[in-house]
Amino acid sequence: MTANKSLLCLPGDGIGPEVMGEVRRIIDWMGDKRAVKFDVTEGLLGGAAYDAAGTPLPQETIDAAHKADAVLLGAVGGPTYEKLPFDKQPERGLLGIRKELGLFANLRPALVFDALAEASTLKLDVVKGLDIMILRELTGGIYFGQPRGVEDLGGGKRRGFNTLTYTSDEVQRIGEVAFDLAAKRDKRVCSIDKANVLETTVMWREEMTKVGERHPDIELTHMYVDNAAMQLVRNPKQFDVIVTTNMFGDILSDCAAMLTGSLGMLPSASLGAPDDTGRRPALYEPVHGSAPDIAGQGLANPLAMVLSFSMMLRYSFDLADEADLVDQAVQNVLNKGLRTRDIMQEGKQEVSTEAMGDAIQAELDALSS
Ligand code: IPM
Ligand code: MG
Repeated sequence: MTANKSLLCLPGDGIGPEVMGEVRRIIDWMGDKRAVKFDVTEGLLGGAAYDAAGTPLPQETIDAAHKADAVLLGAVGGPTYEKLPFDKQPERGLLGIRKELGLFANLRPALVFDALAEASTLKLDVVKGLDIMILRELTGGIYFGQPRGVEDLGGGKRRGFNTLTYTSDEVQRIGEVAFDLAAKRDKRVCSIDKANVLETTVMWREEMTKVGERHPDIELTHMYVDNAAMQLVRNPKQFDVIVTTNMFGDILSDCAAMLTGSLGMLPSASLGAPDDTGRRPALYEPVHGSAPDIAGQGLANPLAMVLSFSMMLRYSFDLADEADLVDQAVQNVLNKGLRTRDIMQEGKQEVSTEAMGDAIQAELDALSS
């Protein structure tokens, strides 16, 4: 029997703890029924960490994250923290842990489940069968570029500034991940930039082209981000893998999430570079935020969190069978008509976060018996 896999769970704020709770039940189920055992530690991040330790990213959390085979994160943020100094806000914790672990590759698959195709605000034929992968660069770009800040110009005037920077290495590194992903999919990469305005992304396009030359079997196209936003709602099925900068990826992935019916359905994986032993830092989190308006009411959709756990099984532990099982359980509960409020449709059954979790457990039992 191999050693247990170590997992750090960071429930975070808002609906984070609720959706994490449903995943903890699946983790237990995996141990009981599939002999896939995890050593789970729980840690603090975001507002919860600020409340308990006065910082959104305690050193203890950083250390635990480095030690763990994978990190599972709920969500961070909330209105009570908005008035805090910038460096104490929950989002600094999230960005800090991404940077600490070197998680440069953020995979955000947008997949439309048949049962939910009609829950999208877009027409059925536009989204039915949609399966695209947004690959967002996560540790560079304007999110981290220096210099940054707000300076006093005197006379009551101020100047704010952020810097969009990428090195050619950073572009090539994310580019390689995009082409690897495409090789296992429909063999098409669309790189999104703003090369008609921003020099950094002129370089991004040139470097991406070089990566493309190393992968002649994969089609590479380029698109400006404004056009890409429009194409994502006009005809999203034209895309296979989208690769883009940190900020463009942030924006386009929320847009892609809505194609799937709800932000409550989108999982994500953030991966670093493998070390000499092949161990790869990884963090899995739903794309949705902490949704403070519905926190603590049993209204949250746990499925993006559940699907993030399934991505973890697949990408960190090579447990494709178990990941398929979880994905199938999600598909089955949707096919049976169970819906949390965010994806509620006429004629379907509205259920609470916990009842959705119960249904997933029942499906897992049924599928593996
Ligand atoms: C995301 C979020 C974060 C980001 C925020 C909460 C800092 O929007 O993961 O998409 O901008 O990266
Ligand atoms: Mg975002």
